[in-house]
Amino acid sequence: LVQPISVFKGLEGVYVTESALSLIDSENGVLYYAGYDVKELVERSSFEEVVFLMLHQRLPTSSEFTEFLKLLRRSQELEPIHIETIRKYAGVTDILSLLAMLIVLEGRGKIGGNSNDFNAAVNAVAKMGSFFSTIIRVRYGGDYIPPRRDLSFPENLLYMMNGEVPSREHADVLDDLLILHAEHGIPASTFASLVAASTLSDLYSSIAAGILALKGPLHGGASEASYAQALSIGSVEKVPEWVQLTLSEKKKIMGFGHRVYKIYDPRATIVKNIIARFMGSMNSEVKKVYEITRALEEYGEKYLASRGIYPNVDLWTPILYRMIGLPADSFTALFAVSRTAGWVAHILEYWRENKLIRPLHLYVGERPRKYIPLELRTGS
Ligand SMILES: CC(C)(COP(=O)(O)OP(=O)(O)OC[C@H]1O[C@@H](n2cnc3c(N)ncnc32)[C@H](O)[C@@H]1OP(=O)(O)O)[C@@H](O)C(=O)NCCC(=O)NCCS
Repeated sequence: LVQPISVFKGLEGVYVTESALSLIDSENGVLYYAGYDVKELVERSSFEEVVFLMLHQRLPTSSEFTEFLKLLRRSQELEPIHIETIRKYAGVTDILSLLAMLIVLEGRGKIGGNSNDFNAAVNAVAKMGSFFSTIIRVRYGGDYIPPRRDLSFPENLLYMMNGEVPSREHADVLDDLLILHAEHGIPASTFASLVAASTLSDLYSSIAAGILALKGPLHGGASEASYAQALSIGSVEKVPEWVQLTLSEKKKIMGFGHRVYKIYDPRATIVKNIIARFMGSMNSEVKKVYEITRALEEYGEKYLASRGIYPNVDLWTPILYRMIGLPADSFTALFAVSRTAGWVAHILEYWRENKLIRPLHLYVGERPRKYIPLELRTGS
């Protein structure tokens, strides 16, 4: 008896593992990290505490947090091999590819499968931040600035990038953005890192798999694409026509839609609330993108909301990224820095009961076929 076979394109609706890391309550529009509403974490916690939360699925005590911060700050320092690699490639490749290259270097000689390797996980998050800042700094003609142990992770990230200790406001905005992107279940990038980790590849190479899967505009690349989209629309007046034309040509509006949320992305609401605090201090470029984005949201929703396609976080984040001075081609890379927390937590969790990820495809080609030698083959 032949069993009917179901093919789940894009693994839509398929559960591949159990996890205590996050819950997307897509009906009520709430995102939880290990049981905590991300909105409350943005308001009251810090990215550093969230990294601990991800790795241990509980908040630290004060003495645990002090120890954790010591390790994190120490691990933010770069070695000559990192700095030389950055100097060599910062000008010739995109930031994300260089991040992948650098994190792979970090895994040299290491083996995977150790679900208790918290130190490596913390090191990965710390290094990603320093790689990010140093790549940007070198690209703009500067050189490596060592992190300062008295500065928080987001402060160091901006300090190592700009050479100046950032304002409290900018560091807070960055902290919020890092928290918001730290974890989100198993999107393509996390799945890619789990696929690599499930072969018992090392932690750092598994992160590289995640970084490279994040690159595309359907996933992590959406914020850069949405920013470019706003700039190319050019003015608020052009938005209605642009939306109609884009949809009539069956093209996608970047920053809209989500595989899991069929309602407004709760992270977008949080980002909009942060933006609202800075309305008065936006420069003209950011203000223009803000106005276009607002119109895009209004007109996009008019046509797409009935199909369950709503704005996602990436529609709005470019405004904050630009506001704190990040270059327009660094948004996806910043996302990777933050999501490293989620990737490493998923990898360590998965290794506790590792199972090689090996799905099937349903063969639909011909068989059997007779081999014809090259000299006797004619046409197709
Ligand atoms: C994220 C995304 C890939 C998830 O979509 P998905 O579950 O794979 O669904 P699909 O891409 O197959 O889209 C299903 C339908 O909705 C439409 N759709 C989805 N997102 C859309 C968008 N942003 N703009 C216009 N139409 C969209 C598709 O065209 C498709 O229409 P069809 O049924 O007529 O062919 C998709 O919404 C998208 O590409 N969004 C834009 C990129 C983006 O912002 N990504 C960041 C996500 S956080």
